[in-house]
Amino acid sequence: MSTIGIIGSGNIGATIARLAIQAGHDVVLSNSRSPQTLWPLAAALGPKARTATPEEAGQAGELILVSVPLHRYRDVPAEPLTGKLVLDTGNYYPDRDGRIAELDSGQATTSSLLQVHLADAQVVKVFNNIWFHHLGILARTSDSPERSTLPVAGDDSDAKASAQALVDQLGYDTYDAGTLADSWRFERDQPAYVTPYGPFDVAAAATPVSTEGLARVLAQATR
Ligand SMILES: NC(=O)c1ccc[n+]([C@@H]2O[C@H](COP(=O)([O-])OP(=O)(O)OC[C@H]3O[C@@H](n4cnc5c(N)ncnc54)[C@H](OP(=O)(O)O)[C@@H]3O)[C@@H](O)[C@H]2O)c1
Repeated sequence: MSTIGIIGSGNIGATIARLAIQAGHDVVLSNSRSPQTLWPLAAALGPKARTATPEEAGQAGELILVSVPLHRYRDVPAEPLTGKLVLDTGNYYPDRDGRIAELDSGQATTSSLLQVHLADAQVVKVFNNIWFHHLGILARTSDSPERSTLPVAGDDSDAKASAQALVDQLGYDTYDAGTLADSWRFERDQPAYVTPYGPFDVAAAATPVSTEGLARVLAQATR
């Protein structure tokens, strides 16, 4: 079992922390304010969770989850992440993040920007195309006929395989969607983004997405 350093412990970071603890991992939670502000979350998650600064979470984690608003990605400390697998959940929302020319032009993807910032880490994009509520409730064991599939993309095949193994432990099958340059296929507003897993309504049923179903919507991506 691993220690997962979590940089950004909001909706999606906290959901992944819970799934990781259920799978037997330890988590080190961090945010932009202070470790103390995460004490209630750590207490709710139990003894396998602790809190730290982003630098400390980066140092402590054998692998790292980056789940901050995209416009804050340059704040992620690069040095402690050297040589590590970094799972990136980021998405581009111009109303929140401001306009980013390389994304508007299609020259970059959100995760390729993070990879440039974290040049000595191996970035894998995953968990970005599912609403955090659905991520929490659609996790299933590997023998379940209702297991869902998530796309992963990355430039380093070993890192991608490690990410796929972790996602499997957390309750999902994976589909290799190529490199970080290819990851636009499951960025915001593409057919594979969020809606296949169900409506934005906690009262509505979530929809398991099979590998075949995910491959179908990924193939429909356009830009
Ligand atoms: N919400 C979803 O369902 C969902 C699903 C998939 C992907 N995503 C994407 O994942 C990312 C996170 O989304 P979210 O909904 O979890 O956001 P969120 O609930 O607003 O949480 C963001 C977290 O990032 C932390 N943070 C902000 N700036 C930071 C910095 N400079 N250093 C360290 N931590 C920082 C925040 O800490 P403070 O509160 O202390 O500032 C907070 O813990 C976004 O890119 C989003 O588009 C979201």
